[in-house]
Amino acid sequence: MRISVFGLGYVGCVSLGCLAQNGHSVVGVDTVEAKVDLINAGKPTIIEKDIDVLVSEHWHKGNLSATTDYISAVCNTDISIVCVGTPSLGNGHLSMKSVFQVAEQIADAIRKKETFHVVVVRSTVLPGSNLKIGKLIESRSGKTRNVDFAVISNPEFLREGSAVADYSRPAITVIGGENQQAIDLVREMYRNVDASVMEVGIEVAEIIKYVNNSFHALKVTFANEVERICSEQGINGREVMDLFVKDKRLNISASYLKPGFAYGGSCLPKDLKGLRALGHDSYVNTPVLDAIEVSNDVQKQNGFERIARHGKRKIGLVGLSFKAGTDDLRSSPMVEIAEKLIGKGYAVLIYDKKVKLSQLRGANKFFIDEHIPHLSELISSDISYVINNSEVIVLGHSLSDFEFDASSLNEKIVVDLCGDNSQTLPNVIAVNTAEPDDVREPALEAL
Ligand SMILES: NC(=O)c1ccc[n+]([C@@H]2O[C@H](COP(=O)([O-])OP(=O)(O)OC[C@H]3O[C@@H](n4cnc5c(N)ncnc54)[C@H](O)[C@@H]3O)[C@@H](O)[C@H]2O)c1
Repeated sequence: MRISVFGLGYVGCVSLGCLAQNGHSVVGVDTVEAKVDLINAGKPTIIEKDIDVLVSEHWHKGNLSATTDYISAVCNTDISIVCVGTPSLGNGHLSMKSVFQVAEQIADAIRKKETFHVVVVRSTVLPGSNLKIGKLIESRSGKTRNVDFAVISNPEFLREGSAVADYSRPAITVIGGENQQAIDLVREMYRNVDASVMEVGIEVAEIIKYVNNSFHALKVTFANEVERICSEQGINGREVMDLFVKDKRLNISASYLKPGFAYGGSCLPKDLKGLRALGHDSYVNTPVLDAIEVSNDVQKQNGFERIARHGKRKIGLVGLSFKAGTDDLRSSPMVEIAEKLIGKGYAVLIYDKKVKLSQLRGANKFFIDEHIPHLSELISSDISYVINNSEVIVLGHSLSDFEFDASSLNEKIVVDLCGDNSQTLPNVIAVNTAEPDDVREPALEAL
């Protein structure tokens, strides 16, 4: 394929060399003549393992070159990949100056072009940017999106220091687009890259890089906080983290990474508090650990607001224990929701498959008798009774293993706090969960 790469920095230079290696004919475009000259002398613009060999080899073979002439670069290629920088501004927003400049350059070129052109946004940009780039190209070129050109979001996951290896073997290749012809062309461009291709919505493709990198930053700071606490206790923190990563079931895995309601139960809140106290007793600052409980409280408050905003007073809670499959009510966020609703004068009914008052014994019976006796009289063993006598049904657990007449939810407002029920009851959840004022402004002011 014939490909133009806009921006000859880290991402652009590595893309240039690797795309040529994968059998494509590639031309790099940059506004900095010195970078263009380097490529045209068979040299990379960056220092990275193996990139010098790739650029030199494919420059000698005539598979790659560079230019400042963006018009000819676009007119003589089928795909343009945008790899220009998107640095942070002083206020934390990111600068889209270079991306929009490239969009204008591509627009000027495709105004003269007769064939379909695909613009691939490889730079890291916020959700909504793809749409803006498309509008800008349309208005400036007079051409029509998804007819004369398409814009695909295709985030780059390489890391400096191992960029060529990361490019060649990414964990996944993400393609966000709405035009199948363009998606198929981008798939074809990566045919020699060893990774499964994930076709997703444009905004999912745009945000994933931010989510990935924020999580990586969280991992670094979490590990460092653990090490600081350990070192004050004379414990080898590196040994602790080496052990931590050995658990691939709960620690390094998809466990606990499904968005839903707040955490609770008898262990997570208690043990998090314990670890923080250990650190604080030795004057160790642990802002990441400290923030976890704060964030969990925000999730509970958010849950309450999602119920209250419907303006109804009769609320049915389905699921009371801290997670499905247990009758443990200690530190259950659903108990907190129930108490808050009752405190504010709502009429509350509760059903939980595992919390049957007549069968409760041991610690849980003691917990209800001691701490939440006022909830006992609201707990029913009949889910239909709870649904029929409530205006808003709040799902704290997945309904997948509940036996009840799902059509009884049809006339109800359903607030799916656990987040698991849109697949079990797609119609009910899609129709009935709409929030009355759920209109969010896209984060475009950041552009
Ligand atoms: N560096 C990384 O490790 C990495 C990894 C993944 C994603 N990203 C993202 O990729 C994007 C590029 O990052 P980078 O580190 O390669 O940036 P960079 O600053 O190294 O390179 C950007 C290049 O774009 C050129 N440029 C600016 N305006 C131009 C224009 N109008 N036409 C042509 N060239 C132009 C600049 O001269 C420069 O050579 C960013 O959005 C970044 O967040 C970077």
